[in-house]
Amino acid sequence: MLIDTHAHLNFNAYKDDIDQVISRTLGAGMKVINVGSQFSTSERAVKMAKEYTGQMYAAVALHPIHLHETYVDEVEIPFKSREEKFVEADYEKLAKEKSVVAIGECGLDYFHMPEDIPEIEFVNKQKEVFIRHINLARKLDLPIILHCRSTKSEPDRAYLEMLEILKQENFNHAVIHCYTASLEVAKKYLEAGFMISFTGIITFPNAKVLWPVVEFAPMDRIMIETDAPYLAPQAVRGKRNEPLYVRYVAEKIAELKNISINQVEEKTTENATNFFKLNL
Ligand code: NI
Repeated sequence: MLIDTHAHLNFNAYKDDIDQVISRTLGAGMKVINVGSQFSTSERAVKMAKEYTGQMYAAVALHPIHLHETYVDEVEIPFKSREEKFVEADYEKLAKEKSVVAIGECGLDYFHMPEDIPEIEFVNKQKEVFIRHINLARKLDLPIILHCRSTKSEPDRAYLEMLEILKQENFNHAVIHCYTASLEVAKKYLEAGFMISFTGIITFPNAKVLWPVVEFAPMDRIMIETDAPYLAPQAVRGKRNEPLYVRYVAEKIAELKNISINQVEEKTTENATNFFKLNL
């Protein structure tokens, strides 16, 4: 049984055929954690999780790109982000729902920088809101799903600054989602006790830099995800992604670690079940 630990079936990309997508996913015996990126999508993730108890779960948070209005050029699905304030009481109320298994996705994003305010101002705002998410997770005893994206010119910077904040806050009950930084940085996160999660990016021929990270990361510290509707794996690249395609991520890990896909499936499912305390 596979678990897609990070999908966005709560997003508009599925508004026309969500029932079919869900029935394909659940028909394959999968479980999914739908991740919120702002209040409305967090609410929707919770609603879906309540509807499919024990099969779907939710994570709630305000993604750093939604702290300011900016154009987001995602590879398959570009959109304009809306500016939103992090109203802690609202998120706390939502996060207390039984189906909520994490605070996320939250963190730092230096890739999508608005042009109409100084960079330092936006970075500081992101850090401040991120710390408030950490405090909320601590208060509710929930893990965090971390989002981190650096600029192309400084691929490790956001990751290192995020790690610094987590260490200052003495918080390591978190998974770093869609890992895309260097092996050196991955080692620092692993040493500090974090989990690492991989998407279909590891199947891209131009993502060879991530392969040593997959090879190095111990089996009990990794999880798999799609980040659907984004980042469809190489075999289905260009299509809208969906939870079923997490299989391609598992296959790539099996190939790189030279083990069977069953071993990857079993271990990543066990890891996700324990980390998010999923009541299977
Ligand atoms: Ni995501």
